[in-house]
Amino acid sequence: MHREQHSVIHKLISLLRGIHIHPAYLLIPIAFSLLSAVFEGAGLGLLVPILNGFLQKSFAFITDVPVLGNIVGYLPESILQNDRFLFGIILSGFLVVYILKNILRYLSIISMGYFGERALHHLRKVLFGRYLSFGKLYFDTSNVGHHNTLLLEFSRQSISPVLLIDKLINAIFSLTVYFVVLITISWKLTLVALPLFVILHFSIKFMITRIKGLSRAIAKRGSELGKKSVEILSTIPLVKSYRTEKKERDIYSDISNEKAKLDFQVKALQNLILPIQEIITIIVAALVLMGSLYLFGRDQIASAPALLVYFYIILNASSKFGTISGFRGIIASSSGPLDEVLKIFSEEDKYYVKGGNKEFVGLQDAIKFNNLTFGYASDRNVLENVDFTVKKGQMTAIVGPTGSGKSTLINLLMRYYECPENSIYLDGTDIRDFSLDSYLQHVALVSQETLLLHDSLRNNITYGLENVSEDALHSAVDSSRLGDFVELLPEGLDTLIGDRGVKLSGGEKQRVSIARALLKGSSILILDEATSSLDSKTEKLIQEAIDEAVQGRTSIVIAHRLSTIKHANKIVVIEGGEVVEEGALDDLLVRKGEFFSLWEEQKF
Ligand SMILES: Nc1ncnc2c1ncn2[C@@H]1O[C@H](COP(=O)(O)OP(=O)(O)O)[C@@H](O)[C@H]1O
Ligand SMILES: [Mg+2]
Repeated sequence: MHREQHSVIHKLISLLRGIHIHPAYLLIPIAFSLLSAVFEGAGLGLLVPILNGFLQKSFAFITDVPVLGNIVGYLPESILQNDRFLFGIILSGFLVVYILKNILRYLSIISMGYFGERALHHLRKVLFGRYLSFGKLYFDTSNVGHHNTLLLEFSRQSISPVLLIDKLINAIFSLTVYFVVLITISWKLTLVALPLFVILHFSIKFMITRIKGLSRAIAKRGSELGKKSVEILSTIPLVKSYRTEKKERDIYSDISNEKAKLDFQVKALQNLILPIQEIITIIVAALVLMGSLYLFGRDQIASAPALLVYFYIILNASSKFGTISGFRGIIASSSGPLDEVLKIFSEEDKYYVKGGNKEFVGLQDAIKFNNLTFGYASDRNVLENVDFTVKKGQMTAIVGPTGSGKSTLINLLMRYYECPENSIYLDGTDIRDFSLDSYLQHVALVSQETLLLHDSLRNNITYGLENVSEDALHSAVDSSRLGDFVELLPEGLDTLIGDRGVKLSGGEKQRVSIARALLKGSSILILDEATSSLDSKTEKLIQEAIDEAVQGRTSIVIAHRLSTIKHANKIVVIEGGEVVEEGALDDLLVRKGEFFSLWEEQKF
């Protein structure tokens, strides 16, 4: 094996370590495989005396055959005298040995299959867990379609060498046994035949390199295919309205076509290995035959049946050798997907938000933004020296033009992205020191976009909460003014609300989100333009609900419509990522600054 292949195997082993699969489990299928090879050897060994006896019409010689003779020696004299009986016994022995060989082979395949599927299961489980551990920024910069392809396809392809390793092991053992049998039949001939395998080994080298290159290209196409399908299927209205069905279908078809072509090339190469090897074998075998005549002249090399078996084994050996070479092809073709899978295991650019180990038991005094400067990418700051305090039990409003960084503040408060050290304090302790579990339990967010699962309305509202009582659920539904809507639904709360909530209007979605937050009952409530997609009638209803909800809670409210934040204890005005003004409504109006002009703009 050349160096490149070593590196694939090396990567594969580190992958198995990563998913805590101990290679020792492989010992069971390997043991079965070993035993099966031994029985195969015994079967082949029996074939020579069987053929010999058949041709000579006598089995008298049998007691002189090494090993077998010893075994037969235990038989009673009466049987040894009876040729037919002896033939029957040896033939039955041959059959039993071959049946056992196949049973063992099956056990080896089955235990290997079990190991492989377990390994795949572990890999998928660990991969999914890893995805969930990455920060939101990772998902901002990568593609769901790719991740989907990775979980479904690349995972299996990346460990395909492991899934097929029993074939390799069986081939290696069989070859070893063949070798022993060949040597026993004629070591001279075997010496002549040996170069055959060296030729075979090098004959396929170029194919392996080619397959490896193709594998990367295929993985790339596979990922593109996943991206395209997920992207297009999730933006159907856009496709429909811009009439891009044909265009998108053509793009998809092109990628799929490319992939099919590459897949075919790999298949063609992989399946070329065996026939090439067989042809080379036949040629070399013929050469060996002639060579041995020339070398050994009329010397008796072996008996005729032995020679027959000898060449039978050589042909078999070449096919087993082909399996080993084919395995090299499989390793090569797994390298593309393997690289993609290993990227998920690397710690590079995962943007973890890990949290500390302090327990957050609830806000006692205030949330303080302390000279917070933040940028998603390192080149541009979205927030600049943001400094203000959110008092416990009060309502703090954040206003400002779109793109000024309001939602970014919330993203940091929700711990979606890691904030700089000492930039946000909860009661004087850095937010980063608190565990995410304990902190986020106290925070509920209603945001601009409502995330819904393809599930019942009930499960969407109670998502992530345990032991929710029916009363609490109904009261949350009522408070969020969803009651009338639920009554109209055919199955009430158990109605399926479709993928990403397409069966709900914008206002209904937002009320689901509010119900969810109310049900969570957290002491810190964040509303990021929670009423932005509501008509004024519903908004009024919801405003009542919100006014009720913020009572006695610490709330941060971002609202586009300034009328909705009239009751705020404090209003913070942000522009271009900087706090430009803060204070109570009356103060700000008197000051006639930024807030005043926003207020005047919205008057009508
Ligand atoms: N995930 C993100 N990655 C990079 N830039 C972002 C991301 N989210 C928002 N931004 C940028 O940050 C700036 C502030 O956005 P945002 O906080 O959403 O504003 P607002 O909520 O005030 O409308 C915008 O210029 C926006 O382009
Ligand atoms: Mg926003």
